Amino acid sequence: MNKSYLNTLLASAFFCLATVISAKAQDVVIPIETKDNALVLQVTPDKLLNMVYFGSKLTDKNEYGAIAKMYNFSGTIGSYNNAYTSSGTRNLLEPAIAVTHADGNKSLDLKYVNHTVTKINDDVSLLSIKLKDSVYDFEVTLNYQTYYNEDVTEQWSVITHHEKKDVVLNKYASANLCIKAGGYWLKHYHGDWAQEMQPEEEALNHGIKTIDSKLGTRADLFEPPVFMVSLNKPAGEDEGEVMYGNLEWSGNFRIDFEVDPANNLRLIAGINNFAADYVLKPGVEFTTPKFVYTLSSKGKGEASRNLQSWARNYKIVDGNGPRLTLLNNWESTYFDFNEPKLAGLLKDTKKLGVDMFLLDDGWFGNKYPRNGDHAGLGDWQVNKAKLPNDIAYLVKEAKANDVKFGIWIEPEMVNPKSELYEKHPDWVIKQPQRPELYMRNQLVLDLTNPKVQDFVFGVVDDLFTKNPELAYIKWDCNSIIFNAYSAYEKNQSNFYTDYVFALYKVLDRVRAKYPKVPLMLCSGGGGRVDYGALKYFTEYWPSDDTEPVERIFIQWENSYFYPALTSSNHVTDWGKQPIKFRVDVAMMGKLGFDIVIGKLKPDELAFCQNAVATYKQFSDEIWHGDQYRLQNPRENDVASIMYVNPAKTSAIMFNYLVSTRYHAGSSAIKLKGLNPDKMYTLSELNVFPGRRSTIAEANYSGKFLMTVGVNPDVRDGRASVLIAVKETK
Ligand code: DGJ
Repeated sequence: MNKSYLNTLLASAFFCLATVISAKAQDVVIPIETKDNALVLQVTPDKLLNMVYFGSKLTDKNEYGAIAKMYNFSGTIGSYNNAYTSSGTRNLLEPAIAVTHADGNKSLDLKYVNHTVTKINDDVSLLSIKLKDSVYDFEVTLNYQTYYNEDVTEQWSVITHHEKKDVVLNKYASANLCIKAGGYWLKHYHGDWAQEMQPEEEALNHGIKTIDSKLGTRADLFEPPVFMVSLNKPAGEDEGEVMYGNLEWSGNFRIDFEVDPANNLRLIAGINNFAADYVLKPGVEFTTPKFVYTLSSKGKGEASRNLQSWARNYKIVDGNGPRLTLLNNWESTYFDFNEPKLAGLLKDTKKLGVDMFLLDDGWFGNKYPRNGDHAGLGDWQVNKAKLPNDIAYLVKEAKANDVKFGIWIEPEMVNPKSELYEKHPDWVIKQPQRPELYMRNQLVLDLTNPKVQDFVFGVVDDLFTKNPELAYIKWDCNSIIFNAYSAYEKNQSNFYTDYVFALYKVLDRVRAKYPKVPLMLCSGGGGRVDYGALKYFTEYWPSDDTEPVERIFIQWENSYFYPALTSSNHVTDWGKQPIKFRVDVAMMGKLGFDIVIGKLKPDELAFCQNAVATYKQFSDEIWHGDQYRLQNPRENDVASIMYVNPAKTSAIMFNYLVSTRYHAGSSAIKLKGLNPDKMYTLSELNVFPGRRSTIAEANYSGKFLMTVGVNPDVRDGRASVLIAVKETK
C-alpha cells in the first residue's frame, strides 16, 4: 500500500472531527488506539471489514498494516476474523448478525462503505463504520467509543433497512471481536439467590462456550454478564494480558467465546436471541446495547482500575460524588412496623451517626396490606394502619433527627392479591391460556405497554412530588419472567428485548427529572447488576447473603468489575461473627447497617459509632481511590485489599481472616500503589473498645511497604484488621 496514502488516512482518522473516509481499492487500516492498546481493523480490497489485532499499542502506526500478513485468520472456508460476521453467505462460523429479509431470504453480506471519527473531548472518541449489503437495502453501523486514558472501549451496532416490509433480526449482537493469542482462559461466574458471583476459570478449547441468561428480569441471577479472558496464560493480579467485558444490558444476554479452526478467539456479545427474533420496521434504527471492554497487559488489578475509573468518570450516576451511609430496617423489622417503631429507628439512625434511614418493604397497600410477600405489591398507597400520618410524617421525623429518609419500592411487580391486578389484569406478563407461575408470589408487569411505563414512572414521581425531601430510593426486583407473553406487543418475539428498552425509557424519565438522587439497584439480592443499569443507579445490592465471610468472597469478585462506592454492604445479623468483623467487612464498600441498634451492648454501640466516623474520614479513599487487591481469599488464609487516594498520600488497608484452620493467620503483606520515595505512618483503625492494637504506630518508606510489606497480625481473635496508611507529615 502507498505509505503516504496510509499516513493520510491514519492521520485523518485520529485528528479530524467527524470526517467521512471512504475506502479505495487498497487495504485500509483503521487502528483504534487508547493509552496502552490498539484494536486494529482492516478493510480488504473486496471491502470486507476484518479485525486483525487487539493488544499493546505499537509506536509506529504505519506498522499496523503489516499485522494481518503475520497472523493467520483463515481456514478452508475463508477468513474468520470478520469485524461483524453476517450469516447466510460466505461465513459459516457463529454469526454476529442473522436476518430474514422482507422477501424471506436469509442471506447477508456486509461490506465496508465508509467510516467517521468524531472527537468528543480530549479523552473520548467515536469511530463509526458503515457496512451495507450489496443486494438488500440493509445496513449496519459499527460504533467504537474509546476512553483513551482509561483504556476502555464501548462497542455497539446500529441496524437499519429500507426493504419493502419488516425484516426479522434473528441475531443482532453488539460486538464481534477476533483475538489472536497462544491460548485463552475464561473466568466467568455462576450463582443463585444468596450465592451470587461464584467464579469459575477454564481454558477455552475449540468450539463455543456460551454464557447467557434467559430469565428476563433478574437476568444475572444464574450467570452475570461480566467476564474476563486471559491471553497466552492465566493472568495474575499484576501480570499477564487480560481482557474484561460486560454487556450493558439488564435482560437476556448471550456472550459466545469461540476458538475457531485457525485458533483465534471469536467473541460475540449481545442481546440473547433466544425466543427473541426482532421484527424491525423499514426506516427504524435498532441500536444494540453497548459492550464495554478493557485490556490490560499488567494483570487483573490494572484492568479493574481502568474499568472502575471509566465507570466513575462516565457511567454510574454521580461516580465522583459522595454516598449516603444508612440504617435499613428490612432485617430488623421485616413487614412488622408502625409509626412509633419507625420513629425509634430514626432516632437510632441519628445515634449511630449514619446519614440516612431507609424504610424497606411493607409500607403500602390497604385493601391488601403488604404484611407479607403474598399481597399488596402494586398498590403504592401508604398503609393507613401502619403509617396513619403518611410518609410525610417520617420525612418530618427524619428532619427532626437531622438525618435523611429513603424508601424501598419494587415498581415493576404485582401480587395477584392487589388492587392493581384486579384493575389491570392485562398489564401483567402471563400466558393467556396457561396457569400463572409465580416467583415470591408475584408477577412482572408488562413494561412494553406505555401505560405501564407511565404507572411505574408515576410510582417514583409521586413519591418525590409528595415528599420533595425524600433522599434515596431502593429499587427492588424479585421475580424473573415466567410465561413470557405480552398482551400489548404485536410481535411476541420482540417482547424480551422491548421489556429492557422500556425499563430504560422509564429510568430515562426518572433521571431526566431527578438527575442525581441516589438510587440503589437491588434484585432479590444481586440478580441485576450491569453497566446498562448502573447508568441510572448510584449503587447496587450484591447479595442478600450478608454473612460476612461469604460477603468477602462476593464483594471480592464484584471488585474486579465495579467500583467500591457502588457496592452496598450492610451489617446484619447473618452468621456468628462479632460486630467488629461484620462492620469491617461492610466498610470495604458503601457502608450501611440493618441491625437492631437497641440490642447492641454499650461497647458494641461505641465501636459502631466510631467506625462510622472512621468510615467518613476514609470515604474518599474507598469511594474514589485506586483499588489494589493484595491477597485473594480463595488462595490465602487472609484476604487483603487496599484503596489509595490519587495523590498517594493516604490509603486504607482491609484484612480479613477467611480460614478457621488452627494456624491460619497473616504474614507480611506487600502494599501497592504508594509512592516508593515517601514515608508513611501506619496505624490500626476500628480497634474494639477495651482492646489494644498490636500494630505499633510506625513510619516506613513506600518502597519498604511495597517490597517487604507489613504484617497486619490477623489471626484467631484478630479476625479483621484495618490499617490507615498516611504520608508522614
Ligand atoms: C429483597 C431484597 O434483596 C431485600 O434486601 C429486601 O429489600 C426484600 N427484597 C424486601 O422484600
